Amino acid sequence: MQTLLAQLKVVLAPLFELYGITDPLIDKAAVRLLLADVRIVKDDGIVTIYNRSTGAVIFKGSLRNLAGGSFYPENMPPGPGTPPSTCASFTYSTWGACQPGGTQTCTVLSSSPAGCTGGSPVTTQACTYVPPPPATCTGFTFSTWGACQPDNTQNRTLLSSSPTGCTGGSPITAQACTYVPPPTTCSSFTYSAWASCQPSNTQTRSVVTSSPTGCTGGAPVTSQACTYVASNPVTNANIVSSCTGCHGLTSNTTVFKSGGYTVTGRSASQWLSTVNSMVNKGSSLAAGTTAQNYADYLANAP
Ligand code: HEC
Repeated sequence: MQTLLAQLKVVLAPLFELYGITDPLIDKAAVRLLLADVRIVKDDGIVTIYNRSTGAVIFKGSLRNLAGGSFYPENMPPGPGTPPSTCASFTYSTWGACQPGGTQTCTVLSSSPAGCTGGSPVTTQACTYVPPPPATCTGFTFSTWGACQPDNTQNRTLLSSSPTGCTGGSPITAQACTYVPPPTTCSSFTYSAWASCQPSNTQTRSVVTSSPTGCTGGAPVTSQACTYVASNPVTNANIVSSCTGCHGLTSNTTVFKSGGYTVTGRSASQWLSTVNSMVNKGSSLAAGTTAQNYADYLANAP
């Protein structure tokens, strides 16, 4: 290193002078002080001398042509035993964005004088924070769709939007649907005629039309009480069968007008005693019939 320095003696004269080095091979203590402040790098025949404190290049040149190298005296260290000076001026980066707390910061890019330390760089200042405009909403949650309205639309409610704090966006809260009117209850009816009265003393009818149109349900009256009147089981053929055997005739209208008997205008009770009398003489009544049935029939016979 001292040999190298000896070679640099001429080009580094100001540096040597600063450290009081007359001959680097002799003034070893002074060289030690110099080497504490500078770093010498030899790489591929190029010698570079750096200021250890600032990293700045003091000298750079080819070993083969040291005289042609470049010397930067402004980058020399302050000298042996000189305490580093306090930085007096600074260059700064641009101010960062104003933070929600109302401050912004920058960083020190460089300080001067070279090799200085400390000082009072101002890297923080007050500013007025302007919150960024809210983002447009892109995600949504909704209620379920409401019932389809008569205008063929249905709606839902926006429950939440994202991202948090967003505004606007295009939430879809209405859509087309097909309205189906609710069924109406029938309020009036037309009916068939009442059917005959049944042995249960009821009779029924059926609904022919209902209104209003498209209605369902309602309370049509299709059944009512009635008085069942059993039909007389006796027929003309029964009379002929029961009576003609003795009276020799074939029609009930004549059976009583023949053979000397002419009978008209009797009531059912009068006929009842006659029929009972004929039964006593040997007349037999048709199965499932009674003397009263015969009497009722004969009272109404033409
Ligand atoms: C077994 C034979 C016999 C049969 C069957 C018979 N009759 Fe006579 N009927 C007689 C005789 C006999 C008389 C006349 C005697 C009398 O007046 O009591 C008579 C008389 C009558 C008379 C006239 C007397 C009166 O009561 O007004 C009538 C009416 C008559 N029959 C109706 C009927 C009818 C109706 C039937 C059928 C349900 C019938 N008979 C069946 C034998 C019969």
